Amino acid sequence: MLSMSLSELVVMRDNRLTWLGLFLIVMILVGPTTARAGQFWDLPALPPPENYGDLLLDRLSTIKQVKPVYFSHWSHRTRYTCRVCHWELDFAFKSGQTEITEADNRNGLYCGACHDGKIAFGHGEGNCEKCHTGSLVAAPEKFARLRQGLQRDDFGNKINWAGALRSERIAPVASIYKPGESSLQYRKKLVLEAEWPYVPPAVFPHDVHVLWLDCANCHPDIFNIKKKGTEHFQMNYILEGRFCGVCHLSVAFPMDDCHRCHPGIKKE
Ligand code: HEC
Ligand code: HEC
Ligand code: HEC
Ligand code: HEC
Ligand code: HEC
Ligand code: HEC
Repeated sequence: MLSMSLSELVVMRDNRLTWLGLFLIVMILVGPTTARAGQFWDLPALPPPENYGDLLLDRLSTIKQVKPVYFSHWSHRTRYTCRVCHWELDFAFKSGQTEITEADNRNGLYCGACHDGKIAFGHGEGNCEKCHTGSLVAAPEKFARLRQGLQRDDFGNKINWAGALRSERIAPVASIYKPGESSLQYRKKLVLEAEWPYVPPAVFPHDVHVLWLDCANCHPDIFNIKKKGTEHFQMNYILEGRFCGVCHLSVAFPMDDCHRCHPGIKKE
């Protein structure tokens, strides 16, 4: 019963008692460890920490007979906040969605905003294969060097990114157009009561998020700007990549870390 898939559970959605019954079996009888709870939701498999957040972009590359493009979140987020790329440079929160062309890059848009031969290597002939690698690049030494001195975490890159920024071990810039720009100071912490009884609420801290993101990254497209104002705000939709799942499935720490969002669910 515990290995039941999420889709099977969704079929049973009308029967709230069954969902709750299953959850309580996991939480109380089997033991509320994150690993067990993870099995309950049928979470996607995680890549090794040095490839978590890595992307292979291939909207046009294969069609245009060049190799797909490698992009690593962990190597870029030490220098730039999400806001720079996902707000100032307009990259989508879904790989393959942004209409990046080589001409745009050469004109200073998208990757070319930095990969101009000054801030970072440019688009000259010798450099094509630095981006057009055709596969994810493993950089274990570089990754190990980065992790040294940063607080560890259990999932994803196994780096506590929130802590790294708070303690100023990394200092990513919030804007490439306005040097020195700092984030808005909106600190309201929201306790989001789950709609099921007995489920510990999820906590949403604005302060950590606005260090990385712009208000407009979340409002109004992903979340209503009123507590409990977002419709269908439930785990099964989050796991489909909506709401918190926009970021917490592939770049920010993954859904496996129940305790991080639901402090009432015990850590192993
Ligand atoms: C800084 C990274 C980077 C470098 C360097 C780079 N590209 Fe690209 N290139 C991209 C990205 C990102 C895309 C979009 C990927 C996609 O949609 O498949 C792309 C797409 C392309 C495309 C397909 C889209 C189009 O506009 O036709 C071609 C062809 C291409 N690049 C050729 C090149 C050549 C040739 C070089 C070297 C002279 C080069 N690129 C260097 C990042 C780079
Ligand atoms: C240097 C630029 C850059 C930075 C910084 C950056 N991203 Fe991205 N991100 C990208 C690009 C490029 C894509 C691919 C977009 C596309 O193909 O349309 C992407 C895609 C994503 C995706 C979709 C991944 C997938 O599997 O489909 C998520 C989620 C995401 N970013 C979240 C974040 C978060 C959260 C941060 C900050 C911690 C961040 N990004 C920082 C450039 C960046
Ligand atoms: C906001 C600035 C910025 C943007 C946007 C950006 N990069 Fe980078 N990138 C850098 C810097 C800085 C470095 C490190 C310096 C260097 O290698 O020249 C880097 C390094 C890289 C590297 C070398 C390996 C690594 O990960 O460190 C690759 C590959 C790369 N970028 C690909 C891309 C691609 C593909 C895009 C667009 C989809 C992109 N970058 C967008 C700033 C940026
Ligand atoms: C990572 C996503 C994210 C970012 C970034 C973000 N918010 Fe929110 N915000 C939320 C969520 C989630 C809620 C609750 C929505 C719900 O419960 O339906 C919320 C709710 C709110 C509320 C309503 C609070 C209440 O008590 O009803 C306000 C006001 C708000 N946000 C302002 C801001 C401002 C200002 C910024 C930028 C400084 C910002 N938010 C950035 C996710 C975000
Ligand atoms: C647009 C991207 C995005 C969305 C949407 C988002 N987050 Fe985050 N969240 C982040 C990033 C980036 C961090 C920094 C840590 C990391 O990258 O692992 C973070 C960190 C956190 C932290 C850790 C705080 C700490 O101090 O350790 C919590 C808790 C959290 N998010 C909960 C939520 C919840 C709950 C939601 C949905 C209501 C949500 N997040 C939606 C990007 C996002
Ligand atoms: C990134 C944050 C985040 C993580 C990680 C997370 N949750 Fe949730 N969870 C939420 C939010 C937000 C809600 C909805 C709260 C509401 O109803 O407003 C929720 C709701 C729930 C509910 C109530 C039913 C529902 O669908 O709304 C259960 C049960 C639950 N979570 C269990 C878990 C378990 C088990 C894990 C670990 C495998 C987990 N959650 C990991 C954010 C998270």
